Amino acid sequence: MGYKDLHIKPFDKGTIAKLEIFEDYAMAWIPTFVMQAVPEIHIFDFFSGPGYDSQNVEGSPIRILQKINEQLGNILLKKTKVVLHFNEFEPSKKLQNKFYSLKENCSEFINKNPKFKYFLTVNYYNEKAEELFFRLLPLINKYPSLVYLDQNGVKFISEEYINELEKLKTTDFLYFVSSSYFKWLGGTDAFRKVLEFEKVELEKEEYRNIHRLVLNKIKSKLPPNSRLKLFPFSIKKGKNIYGIVFGASNYAAVDKFLQIAWKRNCLNGEADFDIDGDQSKTQLSMFEDRKMTKIQVFQRDFEIQILNGSINTNKSALLYSYSNGHIPRHASLVIKKLKTESKLTYEGRTPALTYENVFRNNNLIEYKVINT
Ligand SMILES: C[S@@+](CC[C@H](N)C(=O)[O-])C[C@H]1O[C@@H](n2cnc3c(N)ncnc32)[C@H](O)[C@@H]1O
Repeated sequence: MGYKDLHIKPFDKGTIAKLEIFEDYAMAWIPTFVMQAVPEIHIFDFFSGPGYDSQNVEGSPIRILQKINEQLGNILLKKTKVVLHFNEFEPSKKLQNKFYSLKENCSEFINKNPKFKYFLTVNYYNEKAEELFFRLLPLINKYPSLVYLDQNGVKFISEEYINELEKLKTTDFLYFVSSSYFKWLGGTDAFRKVLEFEKVELEKEEYRNIHRLVLNKIKSKLPPNSRLKLFPFSIKKGKNIYGIVFGASNYAAVDKFLQIAWKRNCLNGEADFDIDGDQSKTQLSMFEDRKMTKIQVFQRDFEIQILNGSINTNKSALLYSYSNGHIPRHASLVIKKLKTESKLTYEGRTPALTYENVFRNNNLIEYKVINT
């Protein structure tokens, strides 16, 4: 696949969307451990780039440093050591200019803030990510880790990498994948080595869903009892569809990612465009058949599950929301509506349908259907 250098031009809208999701996740991830006074956390950016685009807009490593800077007070207070691993390598180039820029740009940022020296270590690497990844795995495994794999292409979603990430218990990761390349090249040997798609699978899926298809294929390769949870976020760039694959094995991480994704797009929570045409569904005239939006379909199905008793606690409702890629608020609205309609009761003033209630405060409550 041709290699495109995205740093010789200004970042486009899709790249900015990706970087903002990366940084929003870092912003949510860092305090999870810092506030618990975890002694040491690690962030790995295997494809760092030089730090800025051609217009001095920040790339992933500088954005990570900015997020750390914003949380300086708590990091110093809780004495958490933060270790960053920044890698940049330009294949087939003798002069590694982006790597030199990466070091220079990050050092400049760090030197502006003398307090960094109390807790921050940055390790720079100029290696092929595909080799460095395996060398750093023991370290990724040892500490709470956040891993970014912002590749140009698709290679890192192959089983050999996913299988390693799948085994890690305290690692959250975000991949960037050029998903639409599968639509055109999925049948070639090079692509089949990464993910084995049948030609018909690729042909019958609508183009807008290509990143969902890629994610589902990755999911289908996970071991049967895997605790790893994967979520997609599709990003359109011109005619191409790229996407983020978010992965984590704990619900705190899932909650954070879904909150970020739904905040970015309150229509679908999984794309920077109207992936299911939901906008037009809400605008149909009264004479046309109204189609249901993604949220409405979820809420209808959830209501059925509640009323038939298959979901009867705030915990099972929360897990149902997560497994369907929805934030708990969407389910909570249904519970409140059913209570107003006198179809359901529960103790307390609210449905307590949040991550904090279920997992942090152990505030487990039962929903009881009123049979009339
Ligand atoms: C999509 S860009 C990453 C952009 C970066 N995250 C940013 O915000 O600017 C991919 C980067 O990976 C580098 N790269 C390409 N092949 C690589 C490899 N095999 N190992 C490590 N880095 C590689 C490229 O030089 C490029 O800077």
